[in-house]
Amino acid sequence: MVLLSTVNDHLSTRNMEIIKTITKIREQLDKNRAEGCTIGLVPTMGAFHKGHEALMEKAKKENDIVVVSLFVNPTQFSEGEDFESYPADIDSDSEIAEQASIDYLFVPSSDQIYGDDHDTYVDVGRLGQVLCGKTRTTHFRGVATVVLKLFNIVEPGIAYFGKKDYQQVRVIEKMVNDLDVQVKIETIPIVRDEDGIATSSRNTYLTYDEREQATVLYQAISKAKELAQNGVDSVSELETVAGEMIDKRPLVQLEYIHIVDSQALENLKTVSKGKSLAAIAARVGKARLIDNIEI
Ligand code: PAJ
Repeated sequence: MVLLSTVNDHLSTRNMEIIKTITKIREQLDKNRAEGCTIGLVPTMGAFHKGHEALMEKAKKENDIVVVSLFVNPTQFSEGEDFESYPADIDSDSEIAEQASIDYLFVPSSDQIYGDDHDTYVDVGRLGQVLCGKTRTTHFRGVATVVLKLFNIVEPGIAYFGKKDYQQVRVIEKMVNDLDVQVKIETIPIVRDEDGIATSSRNTYLTYDEREQATVLYQAISKAKELAQNGVDSVSELETVAGEMIDKRPLVQLEYIHIVDSQALENLKTVSKGKSLAAIAARVGKARLIDNIEI
C-alpha cells in the first residue's frame, strides 16, 4: 500500500511493515518523529472486522503515521475465558491493515510484552469494578496495563478506541487523566452488522439460531432509549421492559442490563437525557456479548 505523506515528500511511498519487537518499533518511530510526523495508535487483539477498519480509517485521516498493535493480551482474560481459542488470522489481518494504509502492524509476542517476570499492574479504580467488572474482576486491570505499556512503547499523540467497549474507553480515559499520560483519546461510534448486532470478533462463535436471538440485545437497549425519549424516565421501569424482551429469547442469558451515568457509570434512578448510557451483557452459546447505547 502507498502512503502519501502530508509532512515530508521524501517519505512519499511506504509499504506496511510488520514489526515484532519493542526495540524495532521504537527505532522506526523515533525516525518518524525526527521527521516531524504525527503518530496515531490503534490497539487491537486482531481478527479484524469493520469496527477495526473504521478505527484505522479515522487514525489514518488524522495522523501521518499509524501503528496498529495486534496482541491478544493474556492478562485481560480470566480462567475459563476464550484466551486460548480467541480468533486469529494474521494473513487476513495484515491484508486488511495494508488496505487501510497502515504504516506499522506491531505484533509482539507475549514474551516481548510481559517477559517471564512481569509483576506491575495498573490498579484500576471504581470504573473497572462496575458493569462488566463485576464478573470480569481483573479484566480492566489487564486492559489498562497493556494499554499503558502500548502508550509507553509507541508514544502516540492520539490513540483510538471504539465505543462498543464503552467501559473500556472510560477506564482508559480515567487512567490517562489520573496518571498524566500524554496522549489524546479519540473514539468512534459502534459499528453494527446489518441485523443490528455490534460487529465483534466473538460473533463468529454464534450459531445461526443464536445469532438470530442475539439481535435482541440491541433491540432491548434501543427500546429503552425510545421509551426514555418518549418521557419514561424511571430507570427501573426501562430496565424491566428491556429485561422482559431478553427473557423471551431462551438462547440469551442476560448478565446485566443497566442504565447508568455515561461518565461515572454509576447507577441512576431516573434517566438524565444526554448523560445516560444503557449497557447490556449476555451470554449466547459460547459467546459473551456486550452492547450499549447513549440516551
Ligand atoms: P479488540 O476487541 O480487538 O478491539 C479493538 C478496538 O476496536 C477497541 O477499541 C474496540 O472498542 C474497537 N471495536 C471493536 N468492535 C467494534 C465495533 N463494532 N464498533 C466500534 N469499535 C469497535 O478492545 C480490545 O481489542 C482490547 O481490549 C485492547 C484495547 C486492544 C487491549 O488489549
